Amino acid sequence: MSKQFDVIVIGGGPGGYIAAIRAAQLGKSVACIDEWKNSKGGPALGGTCTNVGCIPSKALLQSSEHFDHANHHFAEHGISASNVSIDVAKMVARKDTVVKQNNDGIQYLLKKNKVSFFHGRGAFVKAADGAYEIMVSGAAEETLVGNQIIVATGSNARALPGAPFDEEMILSNDGALRIGAVPKKLGLIGSGVIGLEMGSVWRRLGAEVTILEGLPTFLGAVDEQIAKEAHKAFTKQGLKVELGVKVGEVKKSKKGVSVAWTNAKGEAQTLDVDKLIVSIGRVPNTIGLNAEAVGLKLDERGAIVVDELCKTNLPGVWAVGDVVRGPMLAHKAEEEGVAVAERIAGQHGHVNFNTIPWVIYTSPEIAWVGQTEQQLKAAGRAYRSGSFPFLANGRARALGDTTGMVKMLADATTDEILGVHIVGPMASELIAECVVAMEFRASSEDIARICHAHPSLSEATKEAALAVDKRALNF
Ligand code: FAD
Ligand code: NAI
Repeated sequence: MSKQFDVIVIGGGPGGYIAAIRAAQLGKSVACIDEWKNSKGGPALGGTCTNVGCIPSKALLQSSEHFDHANHHFAEHGISASNVSIDVAKMVARKDTVVKQNNDGIQYLLKKNKVSFFHGRGAFVKAADGAYEIMVSGAAEETLVGNQIIVATGSNARALPGAPFDEEMILSNDGALRIGAVPKKLGLIGSGVIGLEMGSVWRRLGAEVTILEGLPTFLGAVDEQIAKEAHKAFTKQGLKVELGVKVGEVKKSKKGVSVAWTNAKGEAQTLDVDKLIVSIGRVPNTIGLNAEAVGLKLDERGAIVVDELCKTNLPGVWAVGDVVRGPMLAHKAEEEGVAVAERIAGQHGHVNFNTIPWVIYTSPEIAWVGQTEQQLKAAGRAYRSGSFPFLANGRARALGDTTGMVKMLADATTDEILGVHIVGPMASELIAECVVAMEFRASSEDIARICHAHPSLSEATKEAALAVDKRALNF
């Protein structure tokens, strides 16, 4: 006997479980299918984000930052800490506990919202009379039928050709979050978001870290001035980033991994490391979905083709998150999940792609929203720019964390904020004010005239806004 639902969500990551909760809030009967297994074979809701992405990486970043502070920054506060050591197994176990708390929290939320959860793989069987039959196989074996299907099956790490992940020596994000001891030498391919975050974790813990990046520019998508400042800070910390490289053969031996590469001048080089993390982007995941059975259209990258409303080519079938176009970010997946659930319920959910913030959780943190200076120049848009260094911010001085700046870009005529770019302490939190401002189409003058608490890092945002009009007060 098949079970009938108004909405069936395939995937329990941030796109899927949030869509399921919102649809249930709107009165729909909802099933959510997710196949992720914890180490005991049980369900582990939350997808990549919770299990091998956002949450565990931030847990390790926090632990390694404490270690770094104890080693390098306590002394300036008059605190002596000798023989500081790191128990990597304990650090990883703490990370696993944080992950489990999140897994359990999501399971509780599904239950609270009366979403029926099925642990297993969901696959399309057929479409009939405007409904879809979905087979669940795994711990749960069921056939579900629903008129509205939301696919939120996420993404997987991209491997280097000829160097498949073994998660022992050649690591994806999964293995990178489970390294059992600090490697003496760690190599990373790709200086994108994962490369910089994971490289920072293991560098702080004492590994000699080298990142090989294919592009000639560092963080090409980031505002150039901000990327330059971040590059300077990372280099000073000892993170070695080689730009414009061509990666050749990757060979494993008992001792480690050897990477043949060519530098920007075309000279042949070899990088010998104990472990290699490959972080060269992610590919949309539709493995096992049996998309062909119903004719669900994919593009050449394997992403499910959707329009701006997340509608696929099939009536009643929607797709959200990493498996569709757009940035691969948990909060983007969530916003799409909410919007789709609301559209199914006849509402008008909306996702504003212009105001999706990005954060790189390194130290200093990098965060931005809206357009970069190079994008505005390329578009021929007249703009004014204001920036304010944390060096001139009282709270940053008190924290002992004065690297970086806030930079605001506003339209030259209307003064509407077009982009805000931050490198520095707590950039991840500071960016929220700027997202709100842009959502409300605020001008830089609006931010400049709002009272900000003193002393706070957010005063740097206000000062950057004042600087747009060349009237910063503290710099
Ligand atoms: P996923 O989270 O990948 O979830 C998909 C789920 O569907 C998985 O549980 C999968 O098992 C399940 N599934 C797939 N196919 C089936 C099927 N056929 N049947 C049943 N279940 C299925 N983003 C941020 O915004 N901030 C960060 O700090 C951040 N850090 C990251 C760090 C790392 C190391 C990585 C790898 C990613 C990070 N991301 C971060 C990106 C973020 O994890 C993804 O954008 C987000 O998880 C996408 O959500 P999703 O729901 O689309 O897919
Ligand atoms: P990425 O797209 O951020 O970076 C990949 C990097 O690898 C790029 O700089 C690219 O030029 C380089 N590259 C690609 N092929 C290469 C090759 N053959 N040789 C050398 N360099 C090569 O991808 P990454 O770091 O794997 O992360 C995947 C995604 O996960 C991110 O794009 C992001 O969406 C998400 N993520 C988000 C985080 C956050 O929000 N803080 C943290 C980590 C991941």
